[in-house]
Amino acid sequence: MKKITVTFDSKRPKINGRITNPYSGNQNNSGRHVYVNREFVLKVDDRGFSHDDLSVWEIIEPKDRKYFVPILAQGYTDDEDAWSIQPYIKLNWNQTQEAEEIVDELIQKYNLHDCHDENWAMHKGHPIIFDYGMV
Ligand SMILES: Nc1ncnc2c1ncn2[C@@H]1O[C@H](COP(=O)(O)OP(=O)(O)O)[C@@H](O)[C@H]1O
Ligand SMILES: [Mg+2]
Repeated sequence: MKKITVTFDSKRPKINGRITNPYSGNQNNSGRHVYVNREFVLKVDDRGFSHDDLSVWEIIEPKDRKYFVPILAQGYTDDEDAWSIQPYIKLNWNQTQEAEEIVDELIQKYNLHDCHDENWAMHKGHPIIFDYGMV
């Protein structure tokens, strides 16, 4: 895997030297600061608790991995805000009943406390969880 470097020296963070844009989707209200570029999504949490996505990602069984957006890198800013990076995924919000059943099983199996229906969407015909929700 290619090493990913994040720099926070300007208002908009850079990923591998490339500037990001604040994400302006309708789904992001109370949560983390989300920045995107064509390749990556960067999530920065300044709420003082750690959203340890990487430790969740690492215990997902291989057969379930297609249902989770991978965590490619994780770290802390100089201000000790936790950040994580995922690939940018094209999300489709037409959540199906069948997909919801799959997600419900994954929530039970991996004990995802905060995986409400704004934290997953559809991708390539199956559900994909992008916020592992361990608040
Ligand atoms: N990997 C991703 N690819 C594309 N869009 C994403 C991705 N992860 C999150 N998003 C978008 O950003 C929004 C906020 O992300 P989320 O992980 O739920 O953060 P939080 O709930 O902490 O604000 C989501 O509703 C979704 O629209
Ligand atoms: Mg969320």
